[in-house]
Amino acid sequence: MKKYFLLFIVTLSFVAKSFADEGMWLPQLLATLNEKEMKKMGMKISAADIYNISKGSLKDAIVSFGGFCTAEVISDKGLLLTNHHCGFDAVQNHSSIQNNYIRDGFWAYNNGQELQNPGLFATFIISINEVTVPILNGVTAGMSERERQSTIDKNINEFKKTVQKESYQDILIRPFFDGNKYFIFITETYKDVRLVGAPPSSIGNFGKDTDNWMWPRHTGDFSMFRIYAGKDNKPADYSPDNVPYKPKRSLSISLDGMKEGDFTMVFGFPGRTMEYLPSAAVAQTMTVSDPAKIGIREKALQVLNSFMRKDEQIKIQYAAKYATIENAYKKWKGEVLGLKASNAVGKKQELEAGFEKIVLLQPAMNAGYVDLLKKLNQAYADIEPFGYARDYYNEIIPKIELFTIATNAIAAVTASGKDDATYKKTLTDVNEKLDGLFGEYNATVDQKLFEVLMEMYVKDQKEENVSPLLKKMLAENGNSFAALAKAVYSQTVLTDPVKLKNLLTGIATGGTQSVTTDVAAALYADILKTYVANVSPGLNELQANINQLQRTYMQAQMDVFTKKVFYPDANSTLRLTYGNVKGYNARDAVKYDFYTYLDGVMEKYKPGDYEFDVPQKLIDLYNKKDFGPYGVNGRQPVCFIAANHTTGGNSGSPALDGYGNLVGLNFDRVWEGTMSDINYDKNICRNIMVDIRYVLFIVDKFAGAKNIISELKLVSKKK
Ligand code: ARG
Ligand code: GLU
Repeated sequence: MKKYFLLFIVTLSFVAKSFADEGMWLPQLLATLNEKEMKKMGMKISAADIYNISKGSLKDAIVSFGGFCTAEVISDKGLLLTNHHCGFDAVQNHSSIQNNYIRDGFWAYNNGQELQNPGLFATFIISINEVTVPILNGVTAGMSERERQSTIDKNINEFKKTVQKESYQDILIRPFFDGNKYFIFITETYKDVRLVGAPPSSIGNFGKDTDNWMWPRHTGDFSMFRIYAGKDNKPADYSPDNVPYKPKRSLSISLDGMKEGDFTMVFGFPGRTMEYLPSAAVAQTMTVSDPAKIGIREKALQVLNSFMRKDEQIKIQYAAKYATIENAYKKWKGEVLGLKASNAVGKKQELEAGFEKIVLLQPAMNAGYVDLLKKLNQAYADIEPFGYARDYYNEIIPKIELFTIATNAIAAVTASGKDDATYKKTLTDVNEKLDGLFGEYNATVDQKLFEVLMEMYVKDQKEENVSPLLKKMLAENGNSFAALAKAVYSQTVLTDPVKLKNLLTGIATGGTQSVTTDVAAALYADILKTYVANVSPGLNELQANINQLQRTYMQAQMDVFTKKVFYPDANSTLRLTYGNVKGYNARDAVKYDFYTYLDGVMEKYKPGDYEFDVPQKLIDLYNKKDFGPYGVNGRQPVCFIAANHTTGGNSGSPALDGYGNLVGLNFDRVWEGTMSDINYDKNICRNIMVDIRYVLFIVDKFAGAKNIISELKLVSKKK
């Protein structure tokens, strides 16, 4: 531990070096690591205004939204702003053919009209502290990964008991820098989060998949929610008696907009990055893993698309699923192109050559690092076939929802052998999950997915990784995947919610067999069994080896490149990233500007189109130039880009100006820069934000929700 501490001091002494743009920084370390540079780049406030545990600071206005996105508090009545695509599941759950909020939007004109969302939560971060020493206590270099993890788990449990916190608070202890450091988060989670407003999808998701991950962009990707608390302002389960939450801090909103070069920060919960991988891992992502996943999703999307275009009910049911599948699919495509274009593997190899040179010069200090890269290369070569099998399993099996139903039914059977309480709880969980699933399920669509994806599962994999039962059934159906799918879906009772419920009720009185002998359950069980027998053991062992090597390599990079200031990879914890507003050169002779306007929406507008239609009211407002205080010189700003280092999970994160005022809402990255999770390139990586004035224009002028506008604190530095 002493060694680690010394190294940390060494690192700090090199802070003077500039490291603009790249980085997702821990808010409690900004004062030491970043403040000076941030001020030089244009920040007018101090690090203590961003993160402070003794008084309200900007961090008290930021929440993890449902664990998958970010949102921010923008009024003293707990009003939350996040993306349309983050609130979309909630909007979809309240939508029907009669009340089609996906298509038409939804606005609560008073608190009474706001809609409850079971399961949705908002988590505040109260404090962050490093706890590496107590958590790694007793961990030694010779331990296996399993021993190491069990020591750490024990330490975490013990440490948690010593932490002082309020009864309504939670503790989160998470690894950073691949497990070289640990930090503790005290959090408060509010569980009554109600839908306040969302624009029609034609605004909130304008341009849909064609424009997704692209610039120039014209999407009003926002929605609004409200946190409700108990009468004491503390977290409480949903109750009609709950009251709007009074925040420690809410964001002021600036109507001034951004100019080229202006300082911006994005504050939120980035999910996952892998910036410190060796070249071998980057090459594997680029040539094996991403292409495999892209191929599978392409087929799945074709199936869904063919049904959704024809049937409005299916379109509503599958909208969120489709968007989720498409989103990562397109990102991986951009990632592969970007990794190639930016020569990511070559750059990593160059860095590795530099690393090895320094290591060889300092044998005493870096004794453990001499063969490290050789071992990593070997480890990635070893894991490749197992990784491929894992990607195939993970991408294919969960997309066939019949298998998800089977998983749940089997879970109920397994629990029936346990004690009464466990069984009852499992049954409740299973029923809840199945109710949710069937609300968005169509067996015909699922059957087609089965047919198409099972063909890939069989044909693209090593034969030993394919379920024997599946092979047998396929042969019985003349080796036709269509015939197999038809046979399975006509024989199973699991696709029928009523029959399934009866089956589940019957388990209690000994009817477990009728579940396990169901054709779909039996097939799923055999697919799982094959995977667990042939893939999991090798995969887990090789992965443990990689984890250990990667952790050493992470520490090694910090030890060797002493001039560099390291930020930890994203891990869904609160981070701040900062940069300047600017365009970029996409490729030879193509330069992108940094702002878009409503004029661009009208340029893209295609009446009746699935992706580019817009509501008549928006066209009318545009023609009248009725932009209120939100327009500039007769034009309505819509989106802008900046060099902030963001990733998935940063959706809904506030874009703040140098004063800490809200100027935009992060929702995407540019196509050429989607490789930034693996290889950030400051010349080309840009995040995309909706201008807050477009959000307000839609709320005020389009939706007429003056009640929302009157809650906000609008500020302007312009006279
Ligand atoms: N690409 C953005 C993100 O990763 C936006 C996704 C939502 N939009 C969509 N068309 N699927 O979440
Ligand atoms: N759209 C992403 C999200 O849902 C954010 C954009 C990105 O990945 O950078 O979090």
